[in-house]
Amino acid sequence: MQDDIKAVLYSEEQIQSKVKQLGEQLSEDFNGRNPLVICVLKGAFIFMADLVKAITVPLELDFMAVSSYGQSTKSSGVVKIIKDLDVSVEGRDVIIVEDIIDSGLTLSYLIDVLERRNAKTVTVVALFDKPARRTVDLEPDYKGFSLPDEFVVGYGLDFAEKYRNIPYIGILKPEVYEK
Ligand code: PRP
Ligand code: MN
Ligand code: MG
Repeated sequence: MQDDIKAVLYSEEQIQSKVKQLGEQLSEDFNGRNPLVICVLKGAFIFMADLVKAITVPLELDFMAVSSYGQSTKSSGVVKIIKDLDVSVEGRDVIIVEDIIDSGLTLSYLIDVLERRNAKTVTVVALFDKPARRTVDLEPDYKGFSLPDEFVVGYGLDFAEKYRNIPYIGILKPEVYEK
């Protein structure tokens, strides 16, 4: 599996220390607010687990599964809710946890859904960002790292459902997705 990686972009240690910083910042900013933290499955599952351990204020969790990529390396532009939330967001301070923002389509769709369901506030935390690929105007409120426009995998991010369990973020060798 790791033979398919061309280069490591950020190591496990670099990611862990960034996630801790984000958790500390969120703990300060959400002090006294009991946020509802929403993990966008599947990609954000590892980031979510590490991030909530770094947040020291009381919070609730929920999970939502959406997909726009399927088996392709390019976004289809159509976002599908595969699993919806279990709880109501009405009147809640919602924090959306995403692994990566690429075109921005997934998040702009989700923000819209949560606002229409009358969330009190919607805050976006994204560990990775590929600003060069954006097709909609969207900036995360909190972000970890900016990435170059390369096909990256690991720390939750997949190619055709593979490589999510690599603990760092790396660039996939082109021959892997071109074949
Ligand atoms: C990936 C990634 C983000 C989204 C970003 O999810 O985890 O959720 O794409 O792309 P965008 O900004 O262009 O919308 P994907 O649809 O591959 O589903 P997954 O999380 O289950 O891998
Ligand atoms: Mn995703
Ligand atoms: Mg994916």
